[in-house]
Amino acid sequence: MGMVKVVLNGREVEAANGETILNLARRYGIEIPTLCYYEGYANGSCRICVVEVNGRLMPSCITKVSEGMKIETESIRATEARKTLLRLLLKNHTHRSKEEQMRCRLCDYAIKYGLEPAPIIPDIKIDDTHPAIVFNPSACVMCRKCVIACSIDQSNDTITVIGRGLDTRVGFDLDVPMGVSSCVSCGACIDACPTGALMERDWVPADKVVETTCPYCGTGCQVEYGIKD
Ligand code: FES
Repeated sequence: MGMVKVVLNGREVEAANGETILNLARRYGIEIPTLCYYEGYANGSCRICVVEVNGRLMPSCITKVSEGMKIETESIRATEARKTLLRLLLKNHTHRSKEEQMRCRLCDYAIKYGLEPAPIIPDIKIDDTHPAIVFNPSACVMCRKCVIACSIDQSNDTITVIGRGLDTRVGFDLDVPMGVSSCVSCGACIDACPTGALMERDWVPADKVVETTCPYCGTGCQVEYGIKD
């Protein structure tokens, strides 16, 4: 793999021919927002990582560098395009609580780009049939990272993409509730999900965790058991 010269945010830099713009930017400490990017398996579906390359808007996670490229990661056009994409993704995006919203990278980006984060609807319909994992379809942005984590990382193939067109959605096996699917509770989908659509059933925010010495209850009385000197 040879080296090429490109201009990154006004600075001439060397890049490995064939590496992605996202990879190059990260090597130089430049942050580009991502939602669907999954190390080694970029699918280019969310487009949030858009940058301007020689005057054209390109998704940085799947665009490879080549000699003479002029890349702008924060140009006005790239920033406006990101804001438009964020608005579209936020249209059908809902969380059940402020705490869940704070786990969502899409909402973080919304705030960063001066937009309203997703609305909070406490009684939104979720799939809570699984003993360990909760799925909130209205927080899902169809980035497909959970599908990749389930099939490629874990060889399990429980999480799939179901339906077509506007009805496309994430589902389990042949469209059954998660609790009766072939899920083995590995949790890889939770780690992969950037929006908190898949999360631990008993998740509580760090600031609400109760310290307790007794493993049998969460009261947090801090009674000390054992023999004292
Ligand atoms: Fe590049 Fe989603 S992160 S298209």
